[in-house]
Amino acid sequence: MDNRIRRVVVLGGGTAGWMTAAYLGKALRGTASVTVLEAPAIPRIGVGEATVPNLQKLLFDFLGLPEEEWMPECNASFKMAVKFVNWRTPGEGEPVARRINGGPDHFYHSFGVVPTHDGIPLSHYWVYDRLRGRTDAPYDHACLREVPAMDALSAPRWFDGRRSAPYAWHFDAQLVADFLCRHATRRLDVAHVRDEYVGAEFDARGFITALRTKQGRRLEGDLFVDCSGFRGLLINQAMEEPFLDMSDHLLCDSAVATAVPSDSATEGVEPYTSAIAMRSGWTWKIPMLGRFGSGYVYSSRFAEQDEAVADFCALWGLDPETTPLNRIRFRVGRNRRAWVRNCVGIGLSSCFLEPLESTGIYFITAAIHRLVGHFPDRSFDPVLIDRFNHEIETMFDDTRDFIQAHFFFSPRVDTPFWKANKELRLADGIQEKIALYRAGMVVNPPPTHDEDTVYDHVDLDFRKVWTNGNYYCVLAGLGALPDRPMPLLAHRPDSVASAAARFAEVRRRQRELVTTLPSHYEYLCRLHGR
Ligand code: FDA
Repeated sequence: MDNRIRRVVVLGGGTAGWMTAAYLGKALRGTASVTVLEAPAIPRIGVGEATVPNLQKLLFDFLGLPEEEWMPECNASFKMAVKFVNWRTPGEGEPVARRINGGPDHFYHSFGVVPTHDGIPLSHYWVYDRLRGRTDAPYDHACLREVPAMDALSAPRWFDGRRSAPYAWHFDAQLVADFLCRHATRRLDVAHVRDEYVGAEFDARGFITALRTKQGRRLEGDLFVDCSGFRGLLINQAMEEPFLDMSDHLLCDSAVATAVPSDSATEGVEPYTSAIAMRSGWTWKIPMLGRFGSGYVYSSRFAEQDEAVADFCALWGLDPETTPLNRIRFRVGRNRRAWVRNCVGIGLSSCFLEPLESTGIYFITAAIHRLVGHFPDRSFDPVLIDRFNHEIETMFDDTRDFIQAHFFFSPRVDTPFWKANKELRLADGIQEKIALYRAGMVVNPPPTHDEDTVYDHVDLDFRKVWTNGNYYCVLAGLGALPDRPMPLLAHRPDSVASAAARFAEVRRRQRELVTTLPSHYEYLCRLHGR
C-alpha cells in the first residue's frame, strides 16, 4: 500500500512559511503537493534580520540559489561577527564604546573555529599568557584574524570571489519571504492560497484533516506545518500543545524597532551586527546599504514602553513623534513538543529566543532540515516524531543557556535589569561547561578544527551549535577568564614557546586582510549593481 504523504499544508507566509515551503517543494521532488495558506492582512513580524553562516549551505545551496542571485533581491549585506558594545561598563545606551582598562568596551563574537597550535586551540595559549601577565591583548585581537578588517569596514570577500573568513548575512526579512515565495511558486510548484485560516478539522485520533478559511475554502492535507508566528494557531491552539515559558532564564520580552537611513557612501557599511548594551536590555544594529535596521530589546519588567522608546530614540537621535516604530511583544521559550501527531511547528509558532545571537532563522533552517531527515509516512511513526522533538529541544535549550550566559557574566550591575540577570539560575548543562572553561579546558570541541569545512557538518551542528570559539569570544570578551590555564600546557613548554609564532602569523594575516580586502560598501555596490 502506498502510505506516502501526498499533501503538505503550510499555514503562514512569513520567513518560516516560505523557507519551509521552498525546502519541502525541492526535497519531496514533486511526489507531494505543498500549499501555503497566508492571510495578506495579517502582517509578518518582518524586522531587519541577522543570520548565522550555515544558512547558505543548508538552505540556499540546497535550493540552487547562489549568493549573487538572492542577495541583491533581499538588500543583503555581510555579517562577520556580532560586536558587543558597552557590556562591561555602566551607563546609558550609547553607540560608541566607552573606555575600560585603557581600551574600548567592545568585543567581537565571530564565526568559525579558533586556529590550533600543536592540537590545542590558540585560545588556551592566550589564557596561558594572559594569566601570567605576558599579554594584555584582548582575546579577539590576539586570536581572530578578521578583527582589524572588521574595524576597517572591509568585506569578507575579495572581488575575485575568495573568502577571507566565514560569514553570515544581514537582510530584509520581508524581501526574503517575498523572494522565496516567487521561487517556490514559479520553480517548485508550490501553491499559494491568499486567505485567512479560521479553524481546523480533525479525525477521531485527533489528527488534523483540513484547514477552513474565511472565504469558505477547505484545504485538506496529510501533514500540516504551523508557521503562523507567535499565535501558534495550529500547534498551540488547535493541538493544544503547551508553550513552555522560559522567562526565568531570559528577561527580555519586548522590542521597539525601526529602520534608520544612513549615508553608506560616506560612513561605510559595518560588516557585523552590533549589540549595544542599554539600561534594560540591548539594541541591535543591522547595517545594509542605505540604512540600518535597529531595535531595542528590553524587559517590560524593568522598562515601560514609553521609557524604552525614549531611550531608543535618544540612542540614534530620532524623533519619537515622527519615527515609524514597530512595537513588538514576544514570548520566550518553546513548545513542549515541536511536532504533535501530524502537525509540526516551525518558526515563531514553535520557539523563540530573544535575537541576541540571531538564532531565529537558524532554528527555522534547522527544523526544516531535521523534518526532512525524519520525514514520516502516513503512519506517523512516533519514533521519528520523538527523535525530531528531542533534537529541537536540545538545540534550543543549549542556545537559551548560551544567551543567558551573556547577561549572567556581563559585569554590569548598574541598573535593576543587569542586577536581576545575576540572580537568575543557570541550567545544569551550562554550569558544567562553565566549570570546564574555568578549569582551563576546551569547551564543546567543534566537530573539526579545519576552518574550511567547519560548517559542512550539518548533522553534528544541531547537537553542538556553540563550540569552544564561541564560549571564548563571549566569556573572555565579557572579562570572565578561566581560573587557571590548561594544566597540560605546563608539560608542553616547547608548544607554549612556539605558539608565539602562531600569534605572529595571526597578526601578519590581520595586516594582509586590512590592506587587500575591498570595503564592504564597495563590494555591496558591485553586488547590488548600484
Ligand atoms: P511571522 O509572524 O513573520 O509570519 C506569520 C505568518 O502567518 C504571516 O504570513 C501571517 O500572515 C500568517 N498568518 C497568521 N495568522 C494567519 C491566519 N489566521 N491565516 C493565514 N495566515 C496567517 N531572527 C533571526 O534569525 N535574526 C534576527 O536578527 C532576528 N531578529 C528578531 C527580532 C525580534 C524583535 C523578533 C520578534 C524576532 C526576530 N527574529 C530574528 C526571528 C524572526 O523574525 C523569525 O524567526 C522569522 O521572521 C520567522 O517568523 P515567522 O514566519 O515564524 O512568523
